[in-house]
Amino acid sequence: MKFDIALIPGDGIGPEVLDEGVKVLEKLQHTSDLSFNFQEFPQGADHYLDTGELIADESMDELGEFDAALMGAVGDPRVKPGVLERGILLKIRFSFDQYINLRPIRLRDSKYTPLKNKSPEDIDMVVVRENTEGLYANSGGFLRKGTCEEVAIQEMVNTYHGVSRVIRYAYEYAVESGRNLTLCDKCNVLGYAHDLWQRCFQDIGEDFLEVKKDHVLVDALTMKMVRNPEELDVVVTSNMFGDIITDLGAELQGGMGMAVSANINPEGLSMFEPVHGSAPDIAGKGIANPLAAVLAAAFMVEELGAEKEAAKIRAAVDRALEEQQLTADMEGELTTSELGDFICSILE
Ligand code: NAD
Ligand code: IPM
Ligand code: MN
Repeated sequence: MKFDIALIPGDGIGPEVLDEGVKVLEKLQHTSDLSFNFQEFPQGADHYLDTGELIADESMDELGEFDAALMGAVGDPRVKPGVLERGILLKIRFSFDQYINLRPIRLRDSKYTPLKNKSPEDIDMVVVRENTEGLYANSGGFLRKGTCEEVAIQEMVNTYHGVSRVIRYAYEYAVESGRNLTLCDKCNVLGYAHDLWQRCFQDIGEDFLEVKKDHVLVDALTMKMVRNPEELDVVVTSNMFGDIITDLGAELQGGMGMAVSANINPEGLSMFEPVHGSAPDIAGKGIANPLAAVLAAAFMVEELGAEKEAAKIRAAVDRALEEQQLTADMEGELTTSELGDFICSILE
């Protein structure tokens, strides 16, 4: 099986961790019948500062030709917050209509969770995050900007189309995995937006009577994730809440260096990435944890249909955890590339 993969390393630790993801995929080419044709896209802070361009229409058209994309992270202290994030990352998510953001929260080894007495059986959930609208629509404006009467309005856009398709996907995911489904919202306050979510959840639920479903308000959900994570299976939620709860979820799994994210368009280009960002505080030091990028590569391989190979990568990550062959964020002593090499040595 041969796949064309677009690589978007981005900024900060993005290129450092993506290199290790690619190293692992290259290793897989020698040990399986998978073969990858990689093409790197330079978009990110340097490219923007050099050329003024975020991502050109031609690059977007080119991206559309690939079987999948693998991203590092974007964001750079030299550029105003949001310019690269909206101009590159969100542009890709929105333009390719990657309306599902799947973010598994799976503890791989009890040693690495900050939660007392919780095991991999307890911390095993999946967040299905709406990925194209909500507060991310960035709709709104300023009234009387720059005055003491200024009003900044940030609207939350929820369409029946957008809400119903992510909820339907979550129900299907719950059926296929034989798991329960929780709707996470703030319907007690967001009387319009989350009223629509409530109605869609109930109505679509009529087609999935076999799924056991419940509802948890987002504030209570953060409590439950820490206190009773074993009660959570599949959680469907809006864009912003999904963003926030999955950083919490990352920590439950061992840290930002462990959490993965798949931006999925079931009929088009999907993009795989770590949940973490460009981490300017540790960039350039060679100490970033590459495991999220490696697991993102495994996620991609799985979605491309090579489940066995994905499982091999994950098993190699489990070996690294077991043998404490890790980077400093997980109290290990390896550099980013040494950890990538270790994973490859297990794949041999
Ligand atoms: P961040 O995830 O980059 O970093 C948060 C903390 O976690 C930092 O202390 C960092 O050192 C640590 N960390 C993150 N990944 C790590 C890894 N692999 N190994 C070891 N430690 C790791 O979040 P932030 O600091 O809020 O954001 C930095 C920049 O990244 C911002 O510009 C933000 O907009 C951007 N960002 C981009 C993406 C993306 O492209 N997908 C995601 C999140 C944030
Ligand atoms: C993430 C990031 C992005 C998001 C930012 C960088 C736009 O935080 O992928 O979690 O908010 O979705
Ligand atoms: Mn985030």
